[in-house]
Amino acid sequence: MLPVARKPIVQYVAEELVANSIEEILFVTGRNKTSIEDHFDPDPELMRLLQERDHKSLIEELRFQELQAHFYYTRQKSQCGLGDAVLCGESFAGERPFAVALGDSILGLNGSSRSLSRMAEIFSTRHASCVLAVEEVPKDQAAHYGIVQPADGDGQCFRVKTVIEKPRPEEAPSSLAIAGRYIFSPVIFDMIRKVQPDSRGEIQLTDAIRGLCEEGKRVLAFRLPPSERRYDIGNFSSYFQTFVEFALADPVYGEELRQYLLHLLQPR
Ligand code: G1P
Repeated sequence: MLPVARKPIVQYVAEELVANSIEEILFVTGRNKTSIEDHFDPDPELMRLLQERDHKSLIEELRFQELQAHFYYTRQKSQCGLGDAVLCGESFAGERPFAVALGDSILGLNGSSRSLSRMAEIFSTRHASCVLAVEEVPKDQAAHYGIVQPADGDGQCFRVKTVIEKPRPEEAPSSLAIAGRYIFSPVIFDMIRKVQPDSRGEIQLTDAIRGLCEEGKRVLAFRLPPSERRYDIGNFSSYFQTFVEFALADPVYGEELRQYLLHLLQPR
């Protein structure tokens, strides 16, 4: 629920999913995260109050309540890793392919990415079991990401030979990192069940994806276009940068902030 400029991060993610024609959205939450459910619940009293007081711009901020989406919630019982969190969605997904979007990642300025639609198209036309969004990261940062090893070239879309979760830089097979968006066939669920917990007791989704590669399933990577880069909200440094960049792009307050930052940065 951390805000970036005017909206909580989770709202950018939900709006991105809807813009990519994904309208059945399951949130996997945990203890103390009921604020997400509250946020997406329609709030007719607040809406009426804002209309009475003619707060047009604030009403705009609540437009997401009209998103053509259905929100569902389930809770991960303990923090057992991303693989375990995805397993919480098994009965929701059923026999259908599904997308996973990590809540600490916004794709594109203001969540404007349409990459998930392209990934879904690749998934069906190339009969894949999994499509991963990837982007280039500095090699010395490899230990923060799942890193892919391309099998056949590394154009915009390529087959993945294997994936390693958070390798040491000298062990990273490339500088292409998994970027918080995935499309899976339901075969991933059985594979997650086979994964052994890591040293911290977490079931890693990346280990299950490696299992798919080892079984010869078609795992593909889709390189995010530069204009749809991933904004990482998972650490202070990139969270601050993201906040400033989104706030500078704000049509009402952006220019004022630009002037203020220029003033702050002037040598004294
Ligand atoms: C997770 C995934 C990792 C991926 C990263 C960014 O790591 O496990 O493979 O590269 O998100 O999308 P986390 O940031 O949860 O440590």
